[in-house]
Amino acid sequence: PENLIVLGIETSCDDTAAAVVTGNGKILSQIVSSQADLLSRYGGVAPKMAEEAHSLVIDQVVQQALDNSSLTGEDLSAVAVTIGPGLSLCLRVGVTKARSIAGRFNLPFIGVHHMEAHTLVARLVERDLQFPFLALLISGGHNLLILARDVGHYVQLGTTIDDAIGEAYDKTARWLGLDISKGGGQALEELAHEGDSNSVKFKIPMRQYKDCNFSYAGLKTQVRLAIESRHVCVDKNPILSASSHERKSRADIAASFQRVAVLHLEERCQRAIEWAKEMEPSIKCLVVSGGVASNQYVRSRLNYVVERNGISLVCPPPNLCTDNGVMVAWTGIEHFILGRFDPPPPAFDPEDYM
Ligand code: KG4
Ligand code: ZN
Repeated sequence: PENLIVLGIETSCDDTAAAVVTGNGKILSQIVSSQADLLSRYGGVAPKMAEEAHSLVIDQVVQQALDNSSLTGEDLSAVAVTIGPGLSLCLRVGVTKARSIAGRFNLPFIGVHHMEAHTLVARLVERDLQFPFLALLISGGHNLLILARDVGHYVQLGTTIDDAIGEAYDKTARWLGLDISKGGGQALEELAHEGDSNSVKFKIPMRQYKDCNFSYAGLKTQVRLAIESRHVCVDKNPILSASSHERKSRADIAASFQRVAVLHLEERCQRAIEWAKEMEPSIKCLVVSGGVASNQYVRSRLNYVVERNGISLVCPPPNLCTDNGVMVAWTGIEHFILGRFDPPPPAFDPEDYM
């Protein structure tokens, strides 16, 4: 497996990403082209627009990933690409590109599940991380607690019944008038440093349900109401033009939101650890991955939870938590080693269709 070299492509949401990774976990190159500026201008991912943005840069991103690794298609062992879940128009851009490369160079093709990639990248970061382990996957679209028993063998312990935590971060950041060109979550995390996290009393979601599911829609509503009742006028009132008093008021909301949003994660993880220990007594690790896992406050709070339970935390570095090509390439490697791949697609020559 050391000699494997896999190209990974990711276009499921708003980032166009590609990377080349070896079988022993060496990252030879990694390129991410972000649409964050588009997002901040239009207030969300519009599938058609996102698809066009992917189409515009995909060739360049993949070529750059190959160039930076000093390799060509000939040197690859396989091509891996995210096939879902995600926006189908966007996924198609990546899949078409992956198939054309695999076809041209006669390479095995590996379709990858986006959430499995967020999970398994932890085994690239921590090379001796063994199954079974617990994983909390937190991003803009997903909020999952899973027990990973083996590659391709996952038990879902909990999911969100409405919104994911990243969606709540993004909306709150927008409502507080933050500059979200680098992402709403990060902007909110920064502002929260200036606030008092006990100043606004938000209710912790779903306490009456003794399970591992999540809910963030109610917290979002509570935030909206808090903003309106304080007249910290929002949306079109950027934080940069706020008075220092108003800035503090927004920071208080940010900090209080973050405290409760993460408390909900802490409570669910505590229960999931108890459940997982029943199912798999040998469990030793909680993996936390997905875009929101790049948040320092999230990391430090979950660190307390695992310490209390005598297990350890594996949280990939921020650039491997948010969407990236490395996690896709690495998941491709994990599958390839087990013989889980498709034969090379037929070589596609656009001239044939002219
Ligand atoms: O995994 P990801 O890159 O894309 C999806 O699969 O959704 O996650 C993106 C999400 C966004 O909601 C973004 O605001 C959030 O991750 N995020 C953060 C931080 N960095 C990214 N949320 C909180 N704090 C951060 N530092
Ligand atoms: Zn993701």
